Amino acid sequence: MSSTLMEVRNLKKHFPSPAGPVKAVDGINLKIEQGKSFGLVGESGCGKSTLIRVMLKLLEPTEGEIIFQGQDITKYGFREMRSLRKEMGMVFQDPHLALNPKMTVFDIISRPLKIHGLARKKGELMVQVVELMQAMGLQTEHMIRFPHELSGGQKQRIGVARAMAVEPKIIFLDEPTSALDVSVQTKILKLLEQARRERDLTFFYISHDINLIRVVADIMGVMYLGKIVEMGPKALLLKDPHHPYTRGLFAAVPEPDPDIIISEIQLTGEVPSPVNPPPGCNFNPRCPHVMDRCRKEEPEFKELSDGRSVACHLY
Ligand SMILES: Nc1ncnc2c1ncn2[C@@H]1O[C@H](COP(=O)(O)OP(=O)(O)OP(=O)(O)O)[C@@H](O)[C@H]1O
Ligand SMILES: [Mg+2]
Repeated sequence: MSSTLMEVRNLKKHFPSPAGPVKAVDGINLKIEQGKSFGLVGESGCGKSTLIRVMLKLLEPTEGEIIFQGQDITKYGFREMRSLRKEMGMVFQDPHLALNPKMTVFDIISRPLKIHGLARKKGELMVQVVELMQAMGLQTEHMIRFPHELSGGQKQRIGVARAMAVEPKIIFLDEPTSALDVSVQTKILKLLEQARRERDLTFFYISHDINLIRVVADIMGVMYLGKIVEMGPKALLLKDPHHPYTRGLFAAVPEPDPDIIISEIQLTGEVPSPVNPPPGCNFNPRCPHVMDRCRKEEPEFKELSDGRSVACHLY
């Protein structure tokens, strides 16, 4: 049985700019199931990081609703969010910037435990830090080290251990391995997956890298210019992508994968500006199947009978 942990409805984030509002997030609908990995893929600038900042209430939404564990948190202020922060962890893209260079590994991982009053005595903190470091495959001797003494991969493991320390319900991972070598990436993704299963965690990954998302995701979303164009169980999307943008994105995967049916669609042209997205379907200027209707009418994000949702007039 799966249950919805988090849901966003018609979520928008528009940033003011001299040229008009930047529609970074422009009407997102999604559901995150408890205990699953949701992977959202989309090209640079499509609004992924903005979406998670709004979901975490680090940015105020322009419109829409954010529901977490059945509670509507859209209007929650700083104080109401404080008690919820513990439930929502975050792992950042760049481990070099994410860790305070003046703190030891022990201080970094134990800090959230202290802040949230989950452990105070040094002995208690020590037990938990050791357990978290072991879960992320780190040698516990490293707890007295400073970030600059560690490799990028080790730093990112510390970032994950810190995010897991307070036993959140969900962890948001923004390009968690893109700063790392491929071999290190694979190891970290395995550790993450193992920790997720053991701790019954829910992950929300975002990345421009389809190779990462297709490895980690149970449920996959494809984002284009502030909107999700297709979403559903990963196996379904990989086997038979429907939206022309999804098909183009998958066709650009460098190494052939027997799970992916190479489609005829090649993505050409530039992504339009989020200040002036095209009317109708915002993919229409790049779409090989464009019809008259696509230039006028925005397609509805429809759930199909196979369990996926797609926003395209062809379906
Ligand atoms: N604070 C801001 N003010 C104005 N525009 C912003 C702001 N933050 C983001 N944007 C714009 O919103 C759009 C989406 O940006 P965002 O960083 O969310 O994309 P992204 O998908 O995370 O990209 P990347 O893969 O490069 O990290 C971009 O056009 C960006 O320039
Ligand atoms: Mg980003």
